Amino acid sequence: MKENLIVKELPIDLNKIYQVALGAAYHSGQILCQYYGQLKHVEKKGAIDLVTEADLTSEKTVKMIIQDKYPDHGIVAEESGIQTTQTPYEWIIDPLDGTTNYAHQIPIFAVSIAFVVEKHPVVGIVYNPVSQDLFTAIKGQGAYYNRQSIKVSQRKDLHESVLVTGFPYNLKEIIDPLMIRFSNCLQAAQAVRRLGAAALDLCFIASGRFEGFWEQNLKPWDTAAGMLIAQEAGSHITNFSNEPYHYQMSEILATNGYIHQELLRCL
Ligand code: IPD
Ligand code: CA
Ligand code: CA
Repeated sequence: MKENLIVKELPIDLNKIYQVALGAAYHSGQILCQYYGQLKHVEKKGAIDLVTEADLTSEKTVKMIIQDKYPDHGIVAEESGIQTTQTPYEWIIDPLDGTTNYAHQIPIFAVSIAFVVEKHPVVGIVYNPVSQDLFTAIKGQGAYYNRQSIKVSQRKDLHESVLVTGFPYNLKEIIDPLMIRFSNCLQAAQAVRRLGAAALDLCFIASGRFEGFWEQNLKPWDTAAGMLIAQEAGSHITNFSNEPYHYQMSEILATNGYIHQELLRCL
């Protein structure tokens, strides 16, 4: 993997990739709206980890649209796994981020689609079809919310900041460090929220609604699109040891930059 990817030199048209990703996100959105409140099959992948026919149908549709245009690209999708390729191009798909919310008819969920080159996200789309919140980014071209440019919050004090976090499905295995971090952040910030969709958490950092987001044990499909959107809006993203974040890492801390060091100390 190259340390720095020079987007201008890529032999692929990112605007076309963006259009395909956007089309796939809108199709997925139609499917998610059709099944919303109408679910017949909710299965458990683990003790508290759900999968529904909406996750599966959304994933199938997104993959079909991408493979129709780019049959030689790799795909990493939450429900069907990894399809490797000889090319440096991969699509990372979460067909429904926030499945627990979705199954309980809490309208905080999204489809998340990232296009990565040599493991660097260069196009990201996160779309909540119920609220019609569309977050997008192309590397080097800024981040957008419903086609309006967005930037991270300028708030500088942690005690005036609103944070968001999430809890992994294997939380019982890591409950002690998880609760210590939660307690530290809760006491240091103005407030802490837990929305239940990591891709949207990152987009809400991008749009300045939250100042900081941390979570452990997320997967590439949870963060690959959202991290690019947040970075393009000015977010600083590391792991809990202050190393530059990559979507294959298990810890993420994304902030507006100003509160990063102070929040690292809480984690
Ligand atoms: C989950 C959500 C949630 C986070 C979990 C994720 P899913 O994704 O992003 O906010 O706390 O760790 O697994 O399962 O709804 O796609
Ligand atoms: Ca997810
Ligand atoms: Ca999912």
